[in-house]
Parts: sequence; structure tokens; C-alpha cells
Amino acid sequence: MLETVETLMTNMVASLGDARSVELFKKVPKGKRLRAKLILKIAGASPEALKLAAIVELIHAASLLHDDVIDEANTRRGQLSINAEYGDKTAIMLGDILYSKGFSELTALPHEVAFSISNAVALLSVGELLDVELSASFNANLETYFDMIYKKTASLIEASAKSAALLAGKDSKIYALYGCNLGLAFQIIDDVLDITQSSETLGKPSLNDFKEGKTTLPYLYMYQSLNKSEQEQLLSLFQKTLDTEQTAWIKEKMHSTNAITKSIEYAKKLGFEALEAIAGEEDVGLSSIIKEMIERKF
Ligand code: IPE
Ligand code: IPE
Ligand code: MG
Ligand code: MG
Ligand code: MG
Repeated sequence: MLETVETLMTNMVASLGDARSVELFKKVPKGKRLRAKLILKIAGASPEALKLAAIVELIHAASLLHDDVIDEANTRRGQLSINAEYGDKTAIMLGDILYSKGFSELTALPHEVAFSISNAVALLSVGELLDVELSASFNANLETYFDMIYKKTASLIEASAKSAALLAGKDSKIYALYGCNLGLAFQIIDDVLDITQSSETLGKPSLNDFKEGKTTLPYLYMYQSLNKSEQEQLLSLFQKTLDTEQTAWIKEKMHSTNAITKSIEYAKKLGFEALEAIAGEEDVGLSSIIKEMIERKF
């Protein structure tokens, strides 16, 4: 099934008739394909569902091409990122090509699906903008953080689950709720992994968030539990390239304040709420998606 998705993605890019785009797209490594798997689990492998899965993965790849420019990240999916290898301009233009191709392919799907996915991409971009603007100073506001991660990450996962349900004639509302909670939990775990895993394991730079000014949930929780002088010490490291000692201090405090555990617990709670939303539905493997997402190492 996923092989068909890969072929569809390649064909979609090839249908533009531009050799350079095809060549560059080949340089984009495959990711975990979480969004494609989610769609196929909910909708089954119908031709429309496979097409939707390919479109969403093209769109997601476009968002990562732009995200790596925004976050100044030099690796992605275990390789040199496109911006690092070919420059920001190429990464932005390839991102534009994948986004636009995704949108033109969406026009072949039911109107509600096309609207849901394209609207989520607008929200994703608003979320990326918010993420950057929030990074100007240390953000100690939980509500702002959740609003931002809903937009940048959960919106597309929510729209994917909802659209898959629409294609399969299932109750789209409850699958949207499942997708929203899955998406929020997914970004929290991504934010935890940035702190707990190595760049090698992640296939992308680790400890990059705080350096980029991103006050993610673990940093927020940690800040709340530190005393005044420790809070000042943390603030002094904000947006800095850290040495080994400073890195060790952050990691130690992340654990001793239970900031990592609390973040994972919150992600688990959201995962549980996701499953509650679809409790009355036939289990097509959506609980294993939650479990694997929480327990993942990258
Ligand atoms: C990375 O998404 C960006 C986030 C929303 C956290 P994934 O972790 O799904 O990336 P790939 O597709 O597997 O590389
Ligand atoms: C990006 O979030 C989410 C997108 C919408 C692309 P991150 O910036 O945390 O994603 P990674 O860690 O680089 O994959
Ligand atoms: Mg990033
Ligand atoms: Mg980012
Ligand atoms: Mg991240």
C-alpha cells in the first residue's frame, strides 16, 4: 500500500514535465509516512484514499523543506537537508512546487476534502509564522504554545483523519477529534525528542529548538519548577549555542524538575482522548498509531 503511495508521489511530481523538479524530489528522503498510514488505516486502500495519502505526504514534505530554512536546520531524515545542500532558494522553490502540485491534485477529490486539507495548510503556515514570532523572546505561556502547535502540526493531521473518514463514509467529526489530539501529542513528543535524543537518532539536529528561541512544553514546565536564580540561568541560555556543560545542566534540570516526564504524560493524556473520541468505532489500528507515536525514538 505504501509503495503505491510512493509511486503516486513520484508520478505527481513527474506530471509537471520538469526534469529538474524530478531530480530534486529524488533527493528528498522518505520519512515515517505517519500521515499516509493514518489515512489508509481510516479509509482503506481505495484509489481516492491512496491519492489523498500521496497528496498529504507531498504537502508535508513541502512544509519540512520550508521549515528547515526557517529553523536553519542542516539535516533532515538522516541526510543533509535540501537547504544545506542546495541553498535556501532551492528548498523554498521545491517546497512551492510540492505544495502547489498537492493543491492541484486535490481538485480531483471531493470538495470537502480539498477544502479541509488546503485550509489546514493555511493554518500550518500561520502556525509556522507564530512559532517564529514567539521565538523572539522566552514564551512562558502554555496557551500560546498549544495554539501554535495546533496550527503548525495538529491541523494537517486532523484534516487528514477527517478527510479519510469523509472518503470512507465514516463520521468525520470524531475522526477529526482523534486526529487533532494525535497531532497535538505528536508535536509534544517531537519537542521532547529534540531534548532527549541525539541528532543521529533523530536524523535532524537535536537541541535545536531552544537555540532557535523555541520555548517548547518541556522548557515551559522546567521553567515553572525552577527557583528564581535557576530561571535566570535558563533565560541566559535562551537562543545561545550551548557548550557541553550548559547542555548537561539543561538536561539534568529537565529530568530533576520532571519536565520531560510531565510532557510525555500530557502527550499520553491527549493520546487517550484521541482514542476516546473513536471508542465506538471498529478498531482499524488507530490505537497502535497512538502507542507507536508516544514510544517512538525519532
Ligand atoms: C516532523 O514530522 C515535523 C513535525 C510535525 C514534528 P514527522 O516526524 O512526521 O517527519 P517525517 O515525515 O517522519 O520525516
Ligand atoms: C515543524 O515543527 C512542524 C511543521 C509544520 C513543519 P518542528 O520545527 O519542530 O519540526 P522538526 O523538528 O524540524 O521536524
Ligand atoms: Mg524544524
Ligand atoms: Mg520549525
Ligand atoms: Mg521539532
